[in-house]
Amino acid sequence: MSKTVVITGGTGGIGLHTAIGIARTGARVLVTGRRPDAGAEAVARIQAESGNEDVAFVQGDVSTKAGVAALSDALLAKTDRIDVLVNNAGLMAQERQVNEDGFELDFAVNVVAPYLLTLQLQPALAAAAPSRVLMVTGGKASGPFDPTDLQSEQGFVPLVSYTRTKRACEAMSLALAAELEPARIYLSIVYPGRASTAMTRAMTPRSLPWFLRPAWPVFRILIPTEDGGKSAARASQSSVFAATSETVEGKAGVYIDTNQQVAKLHPTVHDPANQAKVLDAIRG
Ligand SMILES: NC(=O)c1ccc[n+]([C@@H]2O[C@H](COP(=O)([O-])OP(=O)(O)OC[C@H]3O[C@@H](n4cnc5c(N)ncnc54)[C@H](OP(=O)(O)O)[C@@H]3O)[C@@H](O)[C@H]2O)c1
Repeated sequence: MSKTVVITGGTGGIGLHTAIGIARTGARVLVTGRRPDAGAEAVARIQAESGNEDVAFVQGDVSTKAGVAALSDALLAKTDRIDVLVNNAGLMAQERQVNEDGFELDFAVNVVAPYLLTLQLQPALAAAAPSRVLMVTGGKASGPFDPTDLQSEQGFVPLVSYTRTKRACEAMSLALAAELEPARIYLSIVYPGRASTAMTRAMTPRSLPWFLRPAWPVFRILIPTEDGGKSAARASQSSVFAATSETVEGKAGVYIDTNQQVAKLHPTVHDPANQAKVLDAIRG
């Protein structure tokens, strides 16, 4: 039986290239996103570039609890087995916004959504066990985690606030990995590395802390404005590796870096007290 792989945010950026890479292995691929037109385009492109026809789009917005629940219902209506769930959809908001659940929007998309979606899809992941869950992280690689002000109430700087939610995602993921392991659902954390995508192209000097703004021209060189998907394709390799490689088979809480190597997260992410703070914030 061919594997079923779900990729959130699989209609653009790094997620689209992850979907192409995984579809090439012959798996059935379900990509999610908010926009049906982008979904249809992505399905056609994934099919054309992979030679695999077994690709479909499932519409859903993961920025609210209700949206995550509706997406998990729509996915479970399509499949009762999920071999790999790639929690790839992410957000770097350019101003502070709060969703209908009262969560700051980066925290909602980068932390609450992957946590809830994984739990809600657990029956399908358990049915395919041994199965895998990937959590796509970002910001400074293996950076330290300070769990005070998780939702940037004391000040919002896009890159700083985004990075904090990605560290929170890592801490949440390690706690969740331990919870899922007895069911043979193995969770890995994946760092793609920099890519030119809708997310990074939306950045401006104001995305950076004030003291880094003079260095904006250097940032712009590091993340080119448009490269035809070249950097996104390269960045997708970590997720493709974590979804398919024997290296992570049967291992919980593994961290895969941008070079597809098993690496270490910062000790503050492993701190159970920090993990508990994130879980408390998610559960309200
Ligand atoms: N780009 C980088 O340099 C970089 C570096 C490190 C880590 N990352 C991480 O890699 C992942 C992918 O990033 P990316 O740069 O490829 O992002 P991107 O280009 O902004 O992602 C686009 C994808 O996410 C979907 N999406 C966005 N918001 C959504 C929402 N609220 N609900 C459902 N789907 C949503 C989009 O489809 P719709 O617009 O149709 O919804 C599209 O499929 C993220 O987790 C990001 O944090 C990126």
